[in-house]
Amino acid sequence: MKIPTLAVRAATLADIPDISNLMLLSARELTKDDYPAEAIESALQCGAWGIDTQLIRDETYYLVFVEKVLAACGGWSFRRTLFGGESSPDDTVLDPAMDAARIRAFFVHPCFARRGLGALLLRCCENAGRIAGFRAFELAATAGGERLYGANGYCAVQPIDHDVGNGLTMRGLLMRKRLSRSPEVTTGPQISTGNTTVVATPTP
Ligand SMILES: CC(C)(COP(=O)(O)OP(=O)(O)OC[C@H]1O[C@@H](n2cnc3c(N)ncnc32)[C@H](O)[C@@H]1OP(=O)(O)O)[C@@H](O)C(=O)NCCC(=O)NCCS
Repeated sequence: MKIPTLAVRAATLADIPDISNLMLLSARELTKDDYPAEAIESALQCGAWGIDTQLIRDETYYLVFVEKVLAACGGWSFRRTLFGGESSPDDTVLDPAMDAARIRAFFVHPCFARRGLGALLLRCCENAGRIAGFRAFELAATAGGERLYGANGYCAVQPIDHDVGNGLTMRGLLMRKRLSRSPEVTTGPQISTGNTTVVATPTP
């Protein structure tokens, strides 16, 4: 049996065109049952969904490759911006002792949906945030994201209605998770990330 190779690495600015294509595909296909097509296009146009290059510069935005095909992207941030591309950045650095780190911009290729890549990225982000000292995470979830994050211990805080232009509003959900004190159990397969090795842990 041929086992597909899986690799996770931090994104670089050179990856932006590929990330952009993945976001478009993912948003259009995987959110179409939750939002009207006009709202999806407006969210992409206005930058509510888009690339925040600050995350790439901070090396907190990750790419997952399956057989060298870009299959998923997503990241975390120690800065205040909760969601969106470059349109509304607040680069204020958060205090791990007081603030929740952010989970940002998860997009899975439709061909790889429901294969655990979203959960894998989430675990990478939480573990990296934990190493940086954070004990809580917050995010603005789409309807699809709500299902992923809800299955991974995130609780609803309050709805967020975001104006995406053209008289349209997109409803998201502010969600939060407090990490347990003990590190995640790391018994999963090891994944090469270039200079480092990430251990993929199974979803609890
Ligand atoms: C949301 C998204 C990132 C989920 O990625 P994914 O790789 O398909 O999620 P996973 O396979 O890791 O799912 C893990 C678990 O989350 C839950 N889950 C994820 N997507 C779900 C869905 N569409 N319906 C129901 N449960 C879902 C399930 O419990 C799932 O476990 P299971 O498949 O064993 O039942 C993906 O659908 C996506 O890219 N959507 C478009 C962009 C988007 O909305 N991003 C979120 C921004 S907040």
